Amino acid sequence: MEKFRIAIIGTGGIAHKHATAYLEMPDVEIVAGSDIVPGKARAFLDEFGLENAKAFENTQEMLDAIKPDAVSVCTYNSTHAECAIQAMRAGCDVLLEKPMTITLEDAIAIRKVEKETGKLLTVGFQPRYDGRMRKIKEIVQSGVLGKVYYVQTGGGRWRGIPGSTFIEKRYAGVGCLADIGCYSLDMVLNALGYPKPLTVSATAFNYFGTNPKYNKPEDAARFNVDDFCGAFIRLEGGITLDFRTAWAMHMDTTGATIFLGTDAGLKVEPAGTESHYGGAWDGSCGPVTLFHDKFDEPTSTPIPLHDLKEDRFYLKCRSFVDAVKENLPAPIPTSQIIYNQAIIDGIIRSNESGHEVTIEIPEI
Ligand SMILES: NC(=O)c1ccc[n+]([C@@H]2O[C@H](COP(=O)([O-])OP(=O)(O)OC[C@H]3O[C@@H](n4cnc5c(N)ncnc54)[C@H](O)[C@@H]3O)[C@@H](O)[C@H]2O)c1
Repeated sequence: MEKFRIAIIGTGGIAHKHATAYLEMPDVEIVAGSDIVPGKARAFLDEFGLENAKAFENTQEMLDAIKPDAVSVCTYNSTHAECAIQAMRAGCDVLLEKPMTITLEDAIAIRKVEKETGKLLTVGFQPRYDGRMRKIKEIVQSGVLGKVYYVQTGGGRWRGIPGSTFIEKRYAGVGCLADIGCYSLDMVLNALGYPKPLTVSATAFNYFGTNPKYNKPEDAARFNVDDFCGAFIRLEGGITLDFRTAWAMHMDTTGATIFLGTDAGLKVEPAGTESHYGGAWDGSCGPVTLFHDKFDEPTSTPIPLHDLKEDRFYLKCRSFVDAVKENLPAPIPTSQIIYNQAIIDGIIRSNESGHEVTIEIPEI
């Protein structure tokens, strides 16, 4: 049986998890890797014992020479669009790391090329593959909450500012919002069935990342992205989304995720607040409780979710391979994630302009 030929574009931190997942799949072969840093792709492939896989310092050259069936785009955010578009134009299906892009404009460009080439592109939000997240969606979609009118969500770290390419605009574009905020947005938007965002009013700060008291001095000096964002987002269908995300703050958590409905409410508590990294929302969660009336009395019912943990990273990569091989739709389609990206874009615009902004997403 001929193996499914995958190449990895951008062989930094997260590429290791992609390679580990693909190496577990007997029907998949990692045939190449590319990274603009000289020698980095070769060292990466060698680390995995992939001496026969070819290394490149130019992604287009790799696509032309190797013609892989598919690629994982694991570059930093600022080159997501460029690499995803290059790959689709070269005939590859794409697993693109989150966030989809930095700007809405780039996300629209990806959608256009997807349509033009007919290639499949899925965005890598692995929490979607966690059984607990599927259960939360099942509860929200079941109708038990009645009409959902207000949702609060966010992921926040007491202290947990990353370094590397995450803290500079030229690489990451956006800070905690694009790093962990996009997960919280995906969690609730996916549970709600991805309603269209209409308006955003937001603020963003970077009091911690830029302060050598809370960040390594050398990182504080180059830090120029957000480390906290808060937003009030109106969604289609009369739903309001109240959202917060933080890499650092003087607080253990930005609070629970709650869905308020006319018949019941659902509370998803943060994964934990004990450690300085606790409370970040990344597909883990704490207790889940349904609040409803029983015999006309307000009642709370715990929903047991303890045994639903799965290897979500493997499943994210596997579902991509399966979708391509079996001609299925993209598991996490850009038709949804463009709304996530539009909110991120709206938050940035609203913060910069100091007032509420309207979200407009062209039909593609
Ligand atoms: N899903 C997750 O759990 C998860 C976790 C961490 C990071 N990420 C995402 O993965 C992406 C990468 O993060 P990271 O921590 O691996 O960053 P990183 O900086 O360690 O790695 C990115 C690599 O891409 C390379 N690169 C940039 N442009 C390129 C191009 N045009 N062609 C080839 N190589 C190029 C860089 O040289 C670098 O080696 C980010 O978008 C981040 O949001 C996802």
